[in-house]
Amino acid sequence: MDNGLTAWEKNAKFWDDYMGDKSNCFHRNLIRPNVTKLLDIKKGDFILDIACGNGNYSEYLAQKGAKIVAFDYSEKMIQLAIKRRQAFSDSIEFNVCDATQYNELLKLKRNKSYDKAVANMAIMDIVDIRPLFSAVYMLLRINGVFVFATHHPCFTYPNDDYFTDAVEKGEAIPEQPVLQNYYHRSMQRIFNIAFEKGFVIDGFYEAPFEGEKIPIIMIVRLRKNN
Ligand SMILES: C[S@@+](CC[C@H](N)C(=O)[O-])C[C@H]1O[C@@H](n2cnc3c(N)ncnc32)[C@H](O)[C@@H]1O
Repeated sequence: MDNGLTAWEKNAKFWDDYMGDKSNCFHRNLIRPNVTKLLDIKKGDFILDIACGNGNYSEYLAQKGAKIVAFDYSEKMIQLAIKRRQAFSDSIEFNVCDATQYNELLKLKRNKSYDKAVANMAIMDIVDIRPLFSAVYMLLRINGVFVFATHHPCFTYPNDDYFTDAVEKGEAIPEQPVLQNYYHRSMQRIFNIAFEKGFVIDGFYEAPFEGEKIPIIMIVRLRKNN
């Protein structure tokens, strides 16, 4: 099965050059404010940054006084993240890890449970999210939260078929070297995977582009109750 890795390895340098230190307006205006409200970052929080790309949100978390374990399955992306975030090497530990591999994910366990986990614009890039949701549940402390921002599935689905899981090629940044995979799942599919693993939802936002009336992004907070 094509898990999209080849495309991300080819796009890693382009992505890092384009996003730079501060990421793009899309991230800064739509993703970061909503994710940050739901994540409620506290100094000393221990946070897992899932599919971290070039580490832009990891750096933001570090600036707020958190300790971060960040990972991505693209080795090139992680090399670029380490280089770009050198000044934060005391606070951010970068790893190569595939979010579809449960046992690999459990190796991200450190000497304490995570307070929080975050996945910015990533679950729609991940071929199978069940192992990730299971592992994050295991890695979080009781009452810990997992916040993710992703394409709003109700408004961005292929083939005129909202309910059926599907993969399509798409572009995160105009003129990126190769198209990447986007994995569509309905809202009930995503939420039911979270519920099966034991999470409850206790925070939710929908974000449109400025001036528009239809949200293209949804931001969800899952909580591990027990
Ligand atoms: C759209 S980028 C978002 C990056 C970062 N979270 C941000 O907001 O800047 C999606 C990232 O997901 C990563 N990714 C896709 N599938 C993955 C998987 N199975 N395991 C780990 N990372 C994955 C890609 O390599 C890419 O860096």
